[in-house]
Order: sequence, then C-alpha cells, then structure tokens
Amino acid sequence: MLLAVDSFGLTTNNITYALMGEAMNYWNFFPAEEGWGRVPVWGFADVVASKADGVPEGTRVYGYLPPASHLVVRPDRPSPSDFVDASPHRAKLPAAYNRYIRTDGELGYEEANEDQQILLWPLYFTSFLIDDLLDDEDFFGAKGMVISSASSRTSSALAYLLSQREGIEVIGLTSPRNVEFTENLRVYDRVVPYEALDSLERDSTVYVDVAGDAKVRSAVHGYWADQLKHSAAVGITHKGDLGGSGELAGPKPVFFFAPDRLRKRAQDWSPEDLNQRIADAWRPYVEWARRWLSVEHGSGPKDVERIYLELLDGKSDPAVGHVLSP
Ligand SMILES: NC(=O)c1ccc[n+]([C@@H]2O[C@H](COP(=O)([O-])OP(=O)(O)OC[C@H]3O[C@@H](n4cnc5c(N)ncnc54)[C@H](OP(=O)(O)O)[C@@H]3O)[C@@H](O)[C@H]2O)c1
Repeated sequence: MLLAVDSFGLTTNNITYALMGEAMNYWNFFPAEEGWGRVPVWGFADVVASKADGVPEGTRVYGYLPPASHLVVRPDRPSPSDFVDASPHRAKLPAAYNRYIRTDGELGYEEANEDQQILLWPLYFTSFLIDDLLDDEDFFGAKGMVISSASSRTSSALAYLLSQREGIEVIGLTSPRNVEFTENLRVYDRVVPYEALDSLERDSTVYVDVAGDAKVRSAVHGYWADQLKHSAAVGITHKGDLGGSGELAGPKPVFFFAPDRLRKRAQDWSPEDLNQRIADAWRPYVEWARRWLSVEHGSGPKDVERIYLELLDGKSDPAVGHVLSP
C-alpha cells in the first residue's frame, strides 16, 4: 500500500530521534542508504494506492512517517479505526510506532485540530502516561515535582495534567530566555531558571528530567539528595551535554519510555479503554494549547532543513510549532 505524506511536525522530539538513532533503533523505521538516516516524524498521510483488504484508497491516516513524499507499508490487522505496518524490518520495533490511525475511525480526530495533533499528540500522550504513572505510584510519596525543559511541549503537557491534581506542587526549570513564556502558561506553581535551583524549598520531590542535561541532573540530585523520591529520565532536549549518571546523589534515574508504559496500560485496562481515556483528556488539553501555540506552515526540502537546523541549535521558539509538507 502506498501512502502519500501530506504534513508532519518537527519539534525537539525529532532531534532526539536522530540523537538516539542508533542506540534506540530510530534509524531502522525508514532505512536509508548506507551512511544516511531518515529522521522519523509524526503526521498525516493519504492512501493513494492499495491492494490491502479493508483499507481503501482515499483513507487518511495519522502515524509515524519519514520526512519524504511517500511510504510503502504492508497493512496488517486492519480495523475500522487503524492498521499496523507489518513490514519485516519493523517487526521488532516498538508497536506504538507501527500503528496507523484512520481519521474516519479515530476517537479524538477533528479536522480543525490536525495541526495540533501533528505538533502535540506524541508529546501529550507521553505526558498523559507520566501523569498516570505518578498517580499510580502515589507520587512516590513526594510533595512536589520538578520538571526540566519546562518550556517544552512534553513538560508543559505534564504540568497541565498535574495542575488538575490536588496537593502537588509543580516546579518548572527552564532557560532564562524561556522563563516568561513558561510562567505565562500558568500550569506551574513556580518557574525558575536552571541557575536558581537553590532558591527552592528542599521538600520531598520527584524529578522529571526532560532536558537530559548532565549538569542540571547532577545539580537536582545534589540539591534534593535523599529528599528525591524518584528520578525519571524522559528526554534529551539539551543535546550538548549528554552524559551518564555518574556519581549522583539520591535515587538512580529510571528511563521512562512511553511505548513501554502504553503497552502496560493497554494490558491493564484494554486498548479501547486506554484510547478512550487518552481521547477524553485530549480535547480540553488542545483547547488550552491553542491559547499559546501558534502554527507556522512550510513546505519542501529548504523549509524542512531550516526548521531542523533551528531546532538542532536550540533556537526554536516554544510558542511556535512548525507543520511541514514534503
Ligand atoms: N521518553 C519518551 O518516551 C519521550 C516521549 C516523547 C518525548 N520525549 C522527549 O521529550 C523531549 C522534549 O520534546 P518536545 O518535542 O516536547 O520539545 P519542544 O517542545 O520542541 O521543546 C523546546 C524546548 O526544549 C529546550 N531545548 C530545545 N533544544 C535545545 C538546545 N539545543 N539547547 C538547550 N535547550 C534546548 C528548550 O527548553 P528549556 O529552555 O525549557 O530547557 C526549548 O524551549 C525530547 O527530548 C523528546 O525526545 C520523550
């Protein structure tokens, strides 16, 4: 079956796919010639040729795509709402990335929200799953949360969900240039620049690390030490300073990988129940995100390269999302 890629988003998440291309097999979804890689993106595509039962031409889908004009897939287990790409080279890759959701059967789909779905959905559902994990673990007994890269979409979606829970203080750590933007989101109880960490109370805390910056991680662990009840390694927005855990005070960071938690919750609840819960929370979240996220459209290789390099250099504006078409 041939998919024509229509539009896709680029955020720091896609830079992380490239950084972790080898370590986490992100290069293996859409293999390229030796020495090259295709960075996966999330977006919409249309079925332009199909020999697959149950997925006719004209079907529009949302899913994991190459930043290219077309993708050949082998649909398997088609249902009115989705199918899975059963191409052999994807068989061992995390299932969450191999599923294509039909717009005519999807619970949360609204045409007017396509740009928001492109830009926010993979980050939002990660945050939904982190919020669920924290609740499930009773916040590891902590009174507060500290979230790094607080201006990122992943972090702000988590802060948005946590702000609806009683009794948990949510602190955002961000770069000085993003403090004002992050405060204006109004989902953090406090926003502080990375350098001002030691102005915070030393109450029991969980660290949700979206920045992945070794210096910030070490400072957070050093400051809270045995008051740190859990440390979740979620992202790597600060690509310049990767590094192992080294000798850290407090608990060892635990890697949070959304596809693993997604699989667990699909088993605990049922895939239908899980999808319904995520869809129910998505609608109000999108309404909130529309207030601060403006969307810029671009097309063709030059625009894709320009936005990719902006993101790579950390020059992107967190208030602007880029929707691109090949
Ligand atoms: N583990 C999982 O399953 C999972 C799932 C989804 C996403 N993630 C990860 O979450 C992270 C956030 O992704 P996103 O798409 O939400 O990000 P985004 O919205 O594009 O984030 C933009 C923010 O990231 C920081 N940043 C970006 N590039 C930087 C650079 N070169 N130097 C310093 N800071 C930089 C800045 O925040 P500050 O100034 O606030 O630091 C910037 O405002 C990514 O690493 C992504 O891979 C993980």
